[in-house]
Amino acid sequence: MWKDRRILDLLKIECPIVQAPMAGANLSDMVIAVSEAGGLGSLPCALLSPEKAREELSKIRRGTSKPINVNFFCHRAPVFDETREAAWKQRLKTYYLEFGLDPDMPTPPSSRAPFDETFLEIVEEFRPEAVSFHFGLPEQRLLKRVKNTGAKVWSSATTVAEARWLEGEGCDAIIAQGFEAGGHRGIFLTDDLSTQVGTMALVPQVVDAVKVPVIAAGGISDARGIAAAITLGASAVQMGTAYLFTPEATISPVHRQALKSTEAETTALTNVFTGRPARGVVNRIMREAGPIAADAPAFPLAGGALAPLRQKSEPQGSGDFMPLWSGQAARLSREMPAGELTKRLAQDALDKLGARSA
Ligand SMILES: Cc1cc2nc3c(=O)[nH]c(=O)nc-3n(C[C@H](O)[C@H](O)[C@H](O)COP(=O)(O)O)c2cc1C
Repeated sequence: MWKDRRILDLLKIECPIVQAPMAGANLSDMVIAVSEAGGLGSLPCALLSPEKAREELSKIRRGTSKPINVNFFCHRAPVFDETREAAWKQRLKTYYLEFGLDPDMPTPPSSRAPFDETFLEIVEEFRPEAVSFHFGLPEQRLLKRVKNTGAKVWSSATTVAEARWLEGEGCDAIIAQGFEAGGHRGIFLTDDLSTQVGTMALVPQVVDAVKVPVIAAGGISDARGIAAAITLGASAVQMGTAYLFTPEATISPVHRQALKSTEAETTALTNVFTGRPARGVVNRIMREAGPIAADAPAFPLAGGALAPLRQKSEPQGSGDFMPLWSGQAARLSREMPAGELTKRLAQDALDKLGARSA
């Protein structure tokens, strides 16, 4: 079976496949299906209110007794910058006029909640076996209390320096998130995107740099990718985009359609939807206002001014003004239920590694 059992033993799971937490794209159904299949299901909390997070965790604990991961963003809450906000709205004005919208209409706040005392209490109440973070780690005071629950803690590193930093702060494992990854980059020690590293180069260098087990993420959408990551020294993989093709994914029909089309061959990193770089299928607003816009408000505020445009265009079947998050390997994905996908990927990866006695 699996030769490197470090993540399997750490979490008492059967196969080294972590379903990536995907804010806005998965809830309890996917977590239960993946954990029941022997992988590690992850509940993303960045877009959930504390009440909704409690509701989803209650469902999960009722639905499976297997280990689970709960995920939080830990960015600093932004300071609202009126001038920048006004410049961003000015940038989007022509689109408002195109849709017959008042460019001066109030726009909803775009909010992704950072980890705080309230979420900590939820962790203490539900005691997930793993807690993962994105954008670094919360302050040590909070982190200590998370660890006191017995949870294994990890976070995403997009460079070797970030991996070393996370290990130094006490992470039990490190996600090496390559450039190919879908959704937000976990980048936190720098904001220089030009030096971001691909999965193939990042994973073995992180493996060499830290003592804790490494979870490879980014562009891994089939068994070949899993076998490759394990060959590079990863103890497990974290897969996001592949799980967007399951019926459990809570994405809209427009997003699903884009992922299934040849458009998904063309992805880019953009900050236009939230203010932080994230990878998605290239669409009109990314092409025309970005993909990286210098005037986009700070994370997560940029999304507020785009919300009315999405509300108008998405019901017409258009993905022009909404994030179509995807990694670079969407086209390798297969449509099937999340539990079946987990088992198939594990078996196929074992078969591929078999000749080399995985
Ligand atoms: C739709 C989507 C949403 C994501 N949301 C989160 C999130 O809430 N928290 C997180 O830690 N990572 C998030 N990620 C990043 C994943 O954890 C992971 O790094 C990425 O999916 C791996 O690359 P892949 O999509 O090519 O498999 C998201 C990825 C996608 C595709």
